[in-house]
Amino acid sequence: MTDFATQLATDANQCADMLDMVFKAQTILAPRLGDAMRYAVLNGGKRMRAGLVLGAARLAATENDAGTYVDSRALRVAAALECLHAYSLIHDDLPAMDDAETRRGKPSCHIAFDEATAILAGDALQTLAFEILADDATHPDPVVRVTLVATLARASGLAGMAGGQMLDLQAETRDLTLAETEQMQMMKTGALIVCAATCGALVGGASSSLTNAVTTYADKLGLAFQIADDLLDYDGDSDGMGKPVGQDAIKGKASFVTLMGLEKAKNEANNLIDNAQMALAPWQDAAAYLQALAGFAVARRS
Ligand code: IPE
Ligand code: IPE
Ligand code: MG
Ligand code: MG
Ligand code: MG
Repeated sequence: MTDFATQLATDANQCADMLDMVFKAQTILAPRLGDAMRYAVLNGGKRMRAGLVLGAARLAATENDAGTYVDSRALRVAAALECLHAYSLIHDDLPAMDDAETRRGKPSCHIAFDEATAILAGDALQTLAFEILADDATHPDPVVRVTLVATLARASGLAGMAGGQMLDLQAETRDLTLAETEQMQMMKTGALIVCAATCGALVGGASSSLTNAVTTYADKLGLAFQIADDLLDYDGDSDGMGKPVGQDAIKGKASFVTLMGLEKAKNEANNLIDNAQMALAPWQDAAAYLQALAGFAVARRS
């Protein structure tokens, strides 16, 4: 079997090719906006959400006969998730939010362009994500397409990423309890990670037992992933991360690291990953990629 790193690199490349294809099919009447969008979404990144979509879709396809066509559909879903994620990062880096000048090892979108362009690039990447999902190339069944759209909408909005970002900013001036911090993390980061995995399962035609298992897996993984991000903000290096580090403490961000300390936060992330992996244990080798992805989410240094 292809090892995890090679498969993730393949998934990342194929997702980038799909994004490139999506951009080529757009009517670009505002080239500066198109350039800023491409700059923010086609600039590397670990492509973990793409990996989750593709991994869950491939796992689902082992249970049915979808294997032959799952890849192109799942790649469109992966591209949509990466557009939504890139939008969240552009806005997260703005001066009004985290005020971060680097992202993925390069100047953040608002530095490379300007604030107004960055806001619009975020807006248009968000709508592009929904445009991709709503296209019949993503799935022939309109019920599946509308479910994908609704799932991404819920994960990104008031009860998901945007709501979590609001709580994150408010926490700069208010102490959160551990439960409140967990809620905030699940919303700002976990929701989109769960969405990636469940949309992958859906487009791959997963059984309900697999969909439930993948949801449990991603729920644990999502929280562990943000704890790892907070740990890396504390003890990572900005060259490796491609973004500023040490900012959470300066800004008074609520995190498991500030609340529990380094060791306990590490243990919590590892326990969550054990639980995530347990959820997929019944699928044995077919789940190897998602199992490795869970380990990667906390072992990474970037
Ligand atoms: C960064 O996400 C923002 C968080 C939700 C913590 P990633 O660490 O997945 O960023 P990229 O996509 O690899 O740049
Ligand atoms: C951001 O969390 C989560 C998003 C919704 C973008 P962070 O603010 O910790 O992400 P980084 O560390 O800037 O990537
Ligand atoms: Mg932030
Ligand atoms: Mg940030
Ligand atoms: Mg962070």
